[in-house]
Amino acid sequence: MTRTTNGNESTCDECDILVIGSGAAGLTLALRCADFASVAVISKGSLREGATFNAQGGIAAVLDDQDSIQNHASDTLTAGVGLCHEEIVDFVVSNSNECIRWLVSQGVPFTTKTRQDQQNPNQAEPSLSPDDLSSLHLTKEGGHSHRRIIHATDATGKAVFEALQKRALNHDNIKLFENRIAVDLLTRNKLGLQDQACIGAYIMDSHTLEVTLFRAKFVVLATGGASKAYLYTTNPDGASGDGIAMAWRAGCRVANMEFNQFHPTCLFHPHAKSFLISEALRGEGAYLELPDGNRFMQRFDERLELAPRDIVARAIDFEMKRLGCDCVYLNITHKPRDFILSHFPTIHKRCLTFGIDICKQRIPVVPSAHYTCGGVMVNQQGETDIPNLYAIGETSFTGLHGANRMASNSLLECFVLAFSASRRIEDLIGTTELSTQGLPWDESSVNKSEDDVLIAHDWDELRRFMWDFVGIVRTDRRLQRAQQRVQVLEQEIQDYCKHYKISTDLLELRNLILVAQLIIDSAIRRKESRGLHYTLDYPDLADRARDTVLMPENYGPP
Ligand code: FAD
Ligand code: SIN
Repeated sequence: MTRTTNGNESTCDECDILVIGSGAAGLTLALRCADFASVAVISKGSLREGATFNAQGGIAAVLDDQDSIQNHASDTLTAGVGLCHEEIVDFVVSNSNECIRWLVSQGVPFTTKTRQDQQNPNQAEPSLSPDDLSSLHLTKEGGHSHRRIIHATDATGKAVFEALQKRALNHDNIKLFENRIAVDLLTRNKLGLQDQACIGAYIMDSHTLEVTLFRAKFVVLATGGASKAYLYTTNPDGASGDGIAMAWRAGCRVANMEFNQFHPTCLFHPHAKSFLISEALRGEGAYLELPDGNRFMQRFDERLELAPRDIVARAIDFEMKRLGCDCVYLNITHKPRDFILSHFPTIHKRCLTFGIDICKQRIPVVPSAHYTCGGVMVNQQGETDIPNLYAIGETSFTGLHGANRMASNSLLECFVLAFSASRRIEDLIGTTELSTQGLPWDESSVNKSEDDVLIAHDWDELRRFMWDFVGIVRTDRRLQRAQQRVQVLEQEIQDYCKHYKISTDLLELRNLILVAQLIIDSAIRRKESRGLHYTLDYPDLADRARDTVLMPENYGPP
């Protein structure tokens, strides 16, 4: 018996669509499918615990008369350094307005021009209409040639999440489950059958640690990214690449795992765990400065602070290493106080809790792991290599981001792919059967672990060497060191899993070790520097841009 978050007792172990993840991608797909199917959405923590809730800057879409779909596509291709797939870029940017209209219809309180001009964060938002998006205020971020970021002040993710969660909680066809962690997928070949179709997933209740099989006609991975593989990250704790790891174990290809994006400006403060300082500050005129007050971006790129993220993060890393300093500074103090408070109320408030008044003081910042550009390979409908298994959002690889994601294109991709995947599922649902077969979870040969300290130690070790050896600047030697270490951890975790019952920490560690292996192996394979992958051994761009595609079948490290 489980309790749904809307308070009803419910025994839910089968439905039409099982959505693993309650972020922007998962909730959007659930809402789009709920009119023709029964949907269960699970989240391994509370529903809000993904990256979505923390998203600040906004969602990219073309609403300015001076802007065009072609401009948005062209900026995305430039940021992606030759590796974006043009057809998916066109598809995503051309569908952006439809998604924004839908989000407005769901009640997302985006900031309007009137509200932004009033410069009073406490003023009520004028009502919005999906038929008229011209009232929305647009901000700017790195890589974008025009103002095209739709936002809800500086807490866009919270506004989106809360509106979608409210809709989902009130929909009779959607059941939401917190504290349920997907362990692995079940495919028909595991039952000795010929085909590989996905028929469900093993789900652990993180309180009781009981694992049950959940059957569904379609399983959708919407589990977010894997930036928790790095010691310093803007991401929430659950960003352990579970979807990528589960899909890989089930037999799906993954691509471009070497492209982990480092956001240039994470707050540097001993007590501020992973707090992002939005790129929108630079979009609205903030400067990056060295400790002595000098600006430095002019030495790296003519677009200065608004160059794409890979360039800005590398420039900061270079300057920090050159000067031996712990951080650089972001300075917006030259803007009027009212302007700062109306655009960035959340960031202002949060920084104040650490004694930094951003209206008067510079903000200490460092780059941090932020976004996983690679992931489970999918087509334009979010279909993976395995029938009836979909992947959408940050866990997937569509080819949109290439070698470097442009700011605010991620939430956009979550919505567009959730829309297209739901259309595909609607087409297929009438001819897809719920499996009557299954294999129960078997824990007969394992015991409760008495060595949890080993898990904590391995977590720490992994995230440190990923930061030191597979970070912003790489070399063959560093990558090989990381590869040796991850192989040792992999042996340990396999041994551990053979003997001990699973727990949330153990599951996440197992997934992170696998994903770290895929990141390292992909980085070793790329013999060039492109976008987010920069190596001192191959500093130039290769003539031809190629994806790094890894296949689980007969896989061996490079
Ligand atoms: P998430 O929102 O991360 O949700 C993942 C869900 O999966 C969670 O519910 C989690 O509990 C669940 N889950 C994971 N594993 C399991 C499992 N094994 N079992 C059950 N549940 C599981 N992008 C933009 O476009 N614009 C921005 O302004 C922006 N700002 C950002 C700011 C921050 C601080 C961060 C961290 C990211 C930001 N991004 C932004 C990136 C963007 O927010 C994410 O890429 C996007 O929200 C991912 O959405 P998602 O639905 O794929 O995953
Ligand atoms: C930010 O607000 O800087 C994050 C935007 C993004 O990651 O797209």
